[in-house]
Amino acid sequence: MVTASAPGKVYLFGEHAVVYGEPAIPCAVERRATVTVEERTDGRLRVDAQDLEIEGFTVEYGTVDGDPGVEVPTELLEAATEYVDGAVEQARDAAGAPGAGFDVAVESDIPLGAGLGSSAAVVVATIAAAAAELGVTLDPREVADRAYRVELEVQNGQASRADTFCSAMGGAVRVEGDDCRTLDAPDLPFVIGYDGGSGNTGELVARVRSLREEYGFAADTVAAIGDVVRAGESVLGGDGDEASLAELGRLMDFDHGLLEALGVSSRSLDEMVWAAREAGAHGAKLTGAGGAGCIVALDETPETETALSYSKSCEQAFRAELAREGVVVS
Ligand code: MEV
Repeated sequence: MVTASAPGKVYLFGEHAVVYGEPAIPCAVERRATVTVEERTDGRLRVDAQDLEIEGFTVEYGTVDGDPGVEVPTELLEAATEYVDGAVEQARDAAGAPGAGFDVAVESDIPLGAGLGSSAAVVVATIAAAAAELGVTLDPREVADRAYRVELEVQNGQASRADTFCSAMGGAVRVEGDDCRTLDAPDLPFVIGYDGGSGNTGELVARVRSLREEYGFAADTVAAIGDVVRAGESVLGGDGDEASLAELGRLMDFDHGLLEALGVSSRSLDEMVWAAREAGAHGAKLTGAGGAGCIVALDETPETETALSYSKSCEQAFRAELAREGVVVS
């Protein structure tokens, strides 16, 4: 039996634009998915998922008709089956054991589909744990690469390497196409607001893609996000003093405005962004695909967290430390 964990992430800058080759800077945060895997001899796969945000459920498949035989919301079932299935397939491939079966237990304190990289963390941890259970220790970069292939497949070819690379490596990273690097970054005072909802990444990415194809100014908006990321990158290289936090915040506000123009924000995300700004945050933006889910703000004082916890749109507000460790196999 092997257990592996991997962190979720927030986007400091660059979601959506990263899909079109612009750079992005996601940062891993201390909310983790933990996956325990045990090989079974009958070649079947049993997934037991416990997410702190949802009711747990168990799915056993590999049956003749593929019917999992349980009543769970379709989206959750898809999350469990498609991502875990793909991850297990990658582990089988890495170990040269195509028929291997597993009991997989997933525990996560990362809300599903809320912009904090829950699926990437589950996929990264599952690949690392299942490969280790088959006797193969994978380098985090290989885990990231294999996890990216799973996301690409599940999200119909609409995924960048950003979420999976960040979860596998930990810390702050920079992703531009296939060029993935770790960054030296100071600890940043992240505050997260969660509206309790989730967005459909595939649909939101497709929406931006069609806007970008239809309007030159939408394509310019995507390119402008890339400019914001490049500006943010040079500030991030500093020591995280008050002036650089203020500048990062300003750029986050800018990024949110561009994402809003691309139609991926929502009333609740905007309300949380404004609650954070009015509480004195350096800046605030949605994180991840958008539609619903989470915003991230920068504030070293307790004000933003308090304001968010009183905001009508916010179901949960919490601080999140930068997770320095990516995937960990124990
Ligand atoms: C989703 O977490 C981030 C997007 O940029 C999609 C991706 O990078 O795969 C919207």
